[in-house]
Amino acid sequence: MNILVTGGAGYIGSHMCKRLAEHGHRIAVIDDLSTGHEQAVRWGEFHRGDVGDGEFLDRVFERFRPEAVLHFAAKSIVAESVADPALYYRTNVAGSLRLIERVRKTPGCVFVLSSTAAIFGRPQAERIDETHPCAPINAYGRSKLMVENILAEYWAAYRLPSVSLRYFNAAGADASGAIGEAHTPETHLIPRILEAALGRAEPVRVFGADYDTRDGTCIRDYIHVDDLCQAHLDGLEYLRAHPGCHAFNLGNGRGFTVREVLDAATRVVGRRLAYQIGERRPGDPAMLVADAARAQQILHWRPAHPQLETLIESAWRWHRQRAF
Ligand code: UFG
Repeated sequence: MNILVTGGAGYIGSHMCKRLAEHGHRIAVIDDLSTGHEQAVRWGEFHRGDVGDGEFLDRVFERFRPEAVLHFAAKSIVAESVADPALYYRTNVAGSLRLIERVRKTPGCVFVLSSTAAIFGRPQAERIDETHPCAPINAYGRSKLMVENILAEYWAAYRLPSVSLRYFNAAGADASGAIGEAHTPETHLIPRILEAALGRAEPVRVFGADYDTRDGTCIRDYIHVDDLCQAHLDGLEYLRAHPGCHAFNLGNGRGFTVREVLDAATRVVGRRLAYQIGERRPGDPAMLVADAARAQQILHWRPAHPQLETLIESAWRWHRQRAF
């Protein structure tokens, strides 16, 4: 297939491009390099630009003629979305709408959205399935939910087929060590721990140890980036056989506390890692764990790397030798 990957210079997008290339697809990447890295674009043709630029999209679509668009390009830091919601609505909502409109004008083209657990807001269950109410508590979550809602209406009114994939905590890196997570600033737990272990960042501050969890720190469901990529392939295949508007939660269904992640990282790195206990970070729910039974039943998706240590090992390989 001809597959257009927006945000293909970013963390999950670049892993997706590698996987698509391995499956023999033709790839075009769109990225404005506002947060992505040109060195991460190694598979397919590269078009530098903004998904919110209609003329740019026209040029890329006319030349490449995509049969599927995988839309990773987005702003995705919760705290930033609270401080600057306009940026999130402009990029994630207006930008996505422009892209979806272009897909609507492209007969036969299907759409896959990178969505997030942040659309659910405060969890009302131990494990979150697709029937959980969507009540986001920040502009990031709201911006992604708005795009999911647009996609539902575009299926109902225009028959534009789509899948929304709600990632829980994406982590890990490609086994080659050639690409990996590289955000500036880095806000995510595992890369922060590993960069601190390498002496390139301050020791990690644990954001709150007084939560109502088994050790007082927040619980998250860490899912390997390669498993997320596999879900996109499975979602695309499903969409071709079952055109519609679908949504799936993607996680391992098992949560780890921040302390447990630190312990696992200690085992991987092979030495004690210093950390401090700090204040809670505003907007952090105590626990976010996926119930991914639907993806397993319908997409036949099974995470291949559910072990926390394996996941951290892959990230460690990347951080030790990262090229960007
Ligand atoms: N944490 C720390 N110290 C740090 C960084 C993180 O203690 O330096 C903790 C956080 O408080 C949280 C856990 O580690 O409990 C994981 O934090 P991340 O920042 O790695 O990830 P989030 O859980 O905040 O983010 C995820 C997704 C977002 C989504 C969000 C919804 O990456 O896309 O969940 O809450 F919006």
